[in-house]
Amino acid sequence: MKIGTVDLASPFAIAPMAGMTDTAFRRLVKRHGGCGLVVTEMVSSEGLVRGIDRTLEYADYTEEERPVSIQIFGGDPEKMAAAAQIVEGMGADIVDVNMGCPVPKIARHNAGCSLMREPTHAATVIGAMAKAVKIPVTVKMRAGWNDAERNAPALARMVEDAGAAAVAVHGRTAAQSYSGLADWDLVAQIADALTIPVFGSGDCVEPEQIVGKLRAGVEGVLVGRGVLRNPWILAQAQDLAAGRPARDVTLADRGQFLLDYIDLLERERVWPSASPGSHDKWVVNKIRALGSWYTKGLENGSHLRTSINSTESLDQLRELIASFFGTVQSCLM
Ligand SMILES: Cc1cc2nc3c(=O)[nH]c(=O)nc-3n(C[C@H](O)[C@H](O)[C@H](O)COP(=O)(O)O)c2cc1C
Repeated sequence: MKIGTVDLASPFAIAPMAGMTDTAFRRLVKRHGGCGLVVTEMVSSEGLVRGIDRTLEYADYTEEERPVSIQIFGGDPEKMAAAAQIVEGMGADIVDVNMGCPVPKIARHNAGCSLMREPTHAATVIGAMAKAVKIPVTVKMRAGWNDAERNAPALARMVEDAGAAAVAVHGRTAAQSYSGLADWDLVAQIADALTIPVFGSGDCVEPEQIVGKLRAGVEGVLVGRGVLRNPWILAQAQDLAAGRPARDVTLADRGQFLLDYIDLLERERVWPSASPGSHDKWVVNKIRALGSWYTKGLENGSHLRTSINSTESLDQLRELIASFFGTVQSCLM
């Protein structure tokens, strides 16, 4: 499939997840296969325009992740256009706009999902960005703000007319946050009505579900929490889509993933890196964050989660993982 001029080798993608889908994690998922697109964690348009180091760090990516979409948030058309130009200058393949974040800190500033409440303004933002850059501009939205405002079908059409090259829809409202189920009928309805590709997002935790959504009419599927639980899920979905059985993932493979993630994170340049030991602490916190998802559904997973959360050093963390998963430690470059 294609988004504008950008070819995707697979219609399955890692959904943007703030705090989770950093470049190291995306690289590892990509290496395991089946991933046609990665999207960064959301990045502030304001921070990009002002050149804030922390913001630039969130937008960091490596060549092996291509095609890469950098997701930005904001509500001011001029600033969003300027941020899109910065994203283009950073060499990203796609710039994505967050119209789905329900968190008040973001939504309060006329950004994230609150843009859905002002569809004309939202379309103006997309129009300004599409005029300012050559790379495709895409939009990720929810079903709407609340049950009374489920306007994703109308907004999707408006942003298409304004120049968006693809749309992704998480089939819940902002009011729902993560409760209830994603409305995939709504997503399929939007896919049917638009000429640009439509990605669906929500509740795919098994590879069969991902392939099933594709068959139900969307062009692509963005998988979020399912990838945090099982980084092989996109590769397994690709196996199924090709008529093969989904590949097996052993306990040792799962342990090795965490060890490889630690190795990559250790080599990451992070901000701030000033105080001694702060980098190790950051890595430990990253593993704790992933651990809360990764251990779900594992036998003795809650025990492992508790142990990870009480482990302070990287050496201890490596030992704990190696002994839980029966993994032989190796060093990944
Ligand atoms: C921890 C977390 C962080 C998220 N951060 C973002 C984000 O930065 N931008 C965004 O568009 N969506 C974000 N989302 C929403 C996901 O991209 C996705 O649409 C949603 O989780 C539903 O898909 P899933 O059921 O496959 O997780 C986030 C979700 C989670 C769980």
